[in-house]
Amino acid sequence: MTDLVAEITALKQREDATILAHYYQDSEIQELADFTGDSLKLARAATQVRSKTIVFCGVHFMAETAKILNPEKRVLLPDLRAGCSLADSCPADKLRRYQEMLRSQGRRFQTVAYINSSAAVKALSDWIVTSGNAEEVVRRVPPDQEILFVPDRHLGQYLEEVTGRKMILWNGSCMVHEIFSVGDLLAQKRKLPHARTIAHPECPANIREHSDFVGGTEAMLRYVASFAEPTDFLVATEANMLWQLRTKVPRHRYHPVPGITCACNKCPHMARNTLEKLRDCLERGSPEIVWQPEFARAREVLQRSLLN
Ligand code: 13P
Ligand code: SF4
Repeated sequence: MTDLVAEITALKQREDATILAHYYQDSEIQELADFTGDSLKLARAATQVRSKTIVFCGVHFMAETAKILNPEKRVLLPDLRAGCSLADSCPADKLRRYQEMLRSQGRRFQTVAYINSSAAVKALSDWIVTSGNAEEVVRRVPPDQEILFVPDRHLGQYLEEVTGRKMILWNGSCMVHEIFSVGDLLAQKRKLPHARTIAHPECPANIREHSDFVGGTEAMLRYVASFAEPTDFLVATEANMLWQLRTKVPRHRYHPVPGITCACNKCPHMARNTLEKLRDCLERGSPEIVWQPEFARAREVLQRSLLN
């Protein structure tokens, strides 16, 4: 492990690379990274990087977003198969047909896409949101237009609740956040009656309604930091987030909310990236995210939504 870390550090120097890692990566990857963050923070950080190469330790749509915002940089992803169940639930051709059907009915709408989507879907959209700016962006959609929100129905439903705007919701969901067990959460709450429950907005309503705070991963960090006294937190998000919470705000105790089928709640797509693959991609300069024609339109939408 120490050798591997030393190898990666040397290769990073040789290749003039910066490592960006999402909070859902294994702790040893987060420890090595130059920047860690949620989707929004990492997309913005990617635009500030000075090195020629970005190694994105996260899933495909995140690395793709970094490339779209930085066409001149080489963007590497340790495992190209690191996908996302949300992005997979919304193929661009299906979205295009659905939009055409709505238009043929005379409906006037704007499409708001969660960043957990492919570049082709982003290119078909008017706005891109992350868990960190979704509420703010939804409020920017002109009130005389309907909103088609893709692909996460739970985040969409949560946004309906907080903004009061009714939306047409795509039927996608995150395979990790959808399977938290409400029964186990209630049992944990009985055992720790003073604990606060924090949940990601990708969680279904039955988990959100038992939570004291709903927010993206960056917002969770800010929320727990606002508690001066040591507190118990029940955390309904991907399990690697607990490492980040424990490292940044160690005065509290964090308890993972278990899933229905397994107690770990690790994202299998994020887990495809390992230290070995990180070393190999730096060594070989591949897998690389290669510029695609649809990136140009996706770039306009991303810049308008995330950087302004
Ligand atoms: P955040 O933007 O809150 O980090 O969420 C990204 C993600 O993939 C959640 O499952
Ligand atoms: Fe996609 Fe869910 Fe994994 Fe996030 S945790 S990358 S939304 S599958």
